Amino acid sequence: MTNYILKAEKLVKSFKQGSNKITILNEADFSLRENEVVALIGPSGCGKTTFLQILGLLDVPDKGKIIINGKNYSNTIFDYTKTICRRHNIGFIYQSYNLLHDFTALENTMFPLRVQNISKKKAKEKALYLLKELGLENRIHHLPTQLSGGEQQRVAIARSIIHEPLIVLADEPTGNLDYENSVKVIDVLIKSVRRLKKSLIMVTHNIEIAKKSDRIMTIENGKLHQHRK
Ligand SMILES: Nc1ncnc2c1ncn2[C@@H]1O[C@H](COP(=O)(O)OP(=O)(O)O)[C@@H](O)[C@H]1O
Ligand SMILES: [Mg+2]
Repeated sequence: MTNYILKAEKLVKSFKQGSNKITILNEADFSLRENEVVALIGPSGCGKTTFLQILGLLDVPDKGKIIINGKNYSNTIFDYTKTICRRHNIGFIYQSYNLLHDFTALENTMFPLRVQNISKKKAKEKALYLLKELGLENRIHHLPTQLSGGEQQRVAIARSIIHEPLIVLADEPTGNLDYENSVKVIDVLIKSVRRLKKSLIMVTHNIEIAKKSDRIMTIENGKLHQHRK
């Protein structure tokens, strides 16, 4: 039996735009396996970010189910329940890094463990290990403004995996990087996720980067489809 870490069933999501209602997701189904790396591609505006935000419990669908690690979050009204699920099960990576500007690389990386009340000592130990693994041993006490784009994104990767979430959701993680840095960043991201035996969904515009995944998906007419090569 295949183990699915995440399942989305018949997701519907519409937005009002002026007097129009546009349907972004129209009974979209999707399943993610344990230890699977999926790339999500598609033209701007097709709904990739909306889809990721719904999977990460940051946005709610109009209809449909989200099942994470066997638990159905569709009818969860309490934000706190979702917050706890996110803190434990999900890691986010954004195009614009989203690091805290007044905190060093080390402090940014420690953050997801600190909000789980894990001791400073433990959080620091783990953050140092990850930053070293990501080649940032000489950047530990740097602030984000003192780091290059590629370095900032590697800090964001360390932060997204430090709590060993079941799923990492990356929304155009290399959108601000040149091709050479994009490849390096994606290689370390995939390597880290595979080492931890976790799952990854990454949105990308770059087909070469998408090909590094196990499976490429696209959003068409509000549904997810396997990308035809
Ligand atoms: N909060 C919102 N209110 C209204 N329209 C939105 C909102 N969020 C996204 N949209 C619209 O939904 C569509 C899909 O957006 P998005 O998911 O960001 O696409 P992508 O990430 O694929 O570029 C776009 O047309 C966008 O304008
Ligand atoms: Mg987007």
